[in-house]
Amino acid sequence: MKNILEMKGITKEFPGVKALDNVNFEVKTGEIHCLVGENGAGKSTLMKVLSGVYKYGEYSGDIVFENKVRKFKNIKESEQLGISIIYQELALIPEMTIYENIFLGHEIKNKNIINWNETITESKKYLDLVNLKINPSEKVINLGVGQQQLIEIAKALSKDVKLLILDEPTAALNEEESDNLLKLLLDLKEKGVTSIMISHKLKEVTAIADTVTILRDGKTICSLSKEKNEINKNKIITEMVGREINDVFPKRKSKPFDEVCLEVKNINAYNHKLRRQVVKDASFYVKKGEVVGIAGLMGAGRTELAHSIFGNPYGYQVSGEVLVEGKNIDFSNPKKAIKAKIAYVSEDRKGNGLILMQDIKQNISLANLQTLTKGKIINNNQEIMIANKYKDSINIKTPSIEQKVNNLSGGNQQKVSISKWLFSNPKVLILDEPTRGIDVGAKFEIYTLINELISSGLSIVLISSELPEILGMSDRVYVLNEGRIAGELPIEEANQENIIQLATE
Ligand SMILES: Nc1ncnc2c1ncn2[C@@H]1O[C@H](COP(=O)(O)OP(=O)(O)OP(=O)(O)O)[C@@H](O)[C@H]1O
Ligand SMILES: [Mg+2]
Repeated sequence: MKNILEMKGITKEFPGVKALDNVNFEVKTGEIHCLVGENGAGKSTLMKVLSGVYKYGEYSGDIVFENKVRKFKNIKESEQLGISIIYQELALIPEMTIYENIFLGHEIKNKNIINWNETITESKKYLDLVNLKINPSEKVINLGVGQQQLIEIAKALSKDVKLLILDEPTAALNEEESDNLLKLLLDLKEKGVTSIMISHKLKEVTAIADTVTILRDGKTICSLSKEKNEINKNKIITEMVGREINDVFPKRKSKPFDEVCLEVKNINAYNHKLRRQVVKDASFYVKKGEVVGIAGLMGAGRTELAHSIFGNPYGYQVSGEVLVEGKNIDFSNPKKAIKAKIAYVSEDRKGNGLILMQDIKQNISLANLQTLTKGKIINNNQEIMIANKYKDSINIKTPSIEQKVNNLSGGNQQKVSISKWLFSNPKVLILDEPTRGIDVGAKFEIYTLINELISSGLSIVLISSELPEILGMSDRVYVLNEGRIAGELPIEEANQENIIQLATE
């Protein structure tokens, strides 16, 4: 099989960071090629070089696509050759409809007038292709991250794509949707489309990859081929991290305390935009030092429940009671919820969790600025000290805490988001998909951090679509189903089967 793509000796530097150091990367025509590596290894950067985000001249080395050296000046030029990239951080326009988004930039026109009817019909076709049963006239703002991901893929398919690049496409999808997406990639392969998929989910990588290339610290470590029977999970992990990792979940030494810390009673939430009840009479509690897992399918209302407790930033109509340490709290807005010592790490770090144009230290201090200010003046030295403390303790990989968050790799952005909320010194920490897009090594670090936090008495609500994570980290599990708490399982009784049963019945 010949190569559709060869990237030769690619080097890309940012101030203070050599993101790519003489990387060689070859992709065969028609294959599914997975690109793996730890957070910050350079995967996204390599794909941005390929697609022209970093234009010719901003990197050194050669891109050979379909046997010709290409010098892309922008993304349009790579797109015209059939290279389509779906970014790690989604890039849809929230206020537009699905169909407008799908055809944005390549509108269907008759004599310069957009043909909306055809746009809608075509959109339906692509939504079908990605198995998304949804009205194309719905606005993107009303969709969850997972659905948005599928729309990004529909958008890529609507262009005449030869090389499809997906940067962590299943990070936000539940198992069923991920399976559908992987099947979709296999279908596309049958149709001759070549794919490059970046993923931290090694189960998926080993299931569909024809070739796996591993990057570490900006260098190509090796390529493994399915044909030669070289692809297996342990081999990939060892090459990725440069050492062996034996346990996915660190051992927990502490037990939940007896006192209840958070009590949530009869929460109802109505979303006016969707005109539906998103949380229905949900009640649950979390003890001090306990991790309570919240499982459920996408759209079950897990994030909405978290939002309702955390001061309801989206203006749902919320009723019910929240108690922290036995006292009724005012949770009518996020500021009050923070004051009552509740913190919420958003699943959507780019949209809600972080201010991308500010640096790491500004983001970390944000939810607790008052402790750093006297009068109206921020104590900069203290801010720097705090940020450095988190940088070291949860291992944020960056040359400096003055780095803009926008420039961090996805996993490191997530660590900043968690640091910010830890600094607000909460009693209850709600983590919404905390390890989405995070590599195996960093996951272990975050799990270890969770264990440390609960042993010091923090209560944690862990919302996750990854059942192994729910099962590996929770003391107790609640399952949400269409906005209702469908069941509560002590961890000894919980397993994948009964959780899925409760989530779907
Ligand atoms: N625009 C930028 N400015 C400065 N540094 C950057 C920029 N983009 C990336 N980097 C740095 O380059 C390195 C590689 O980042 P990249 O985003 O390619 O990693 P990644 O392998 O995709 O990681 P992840 O799995 O976390 O998404 C990191 O150290 C990152 O902080
Ligand atoms: Mg990345």
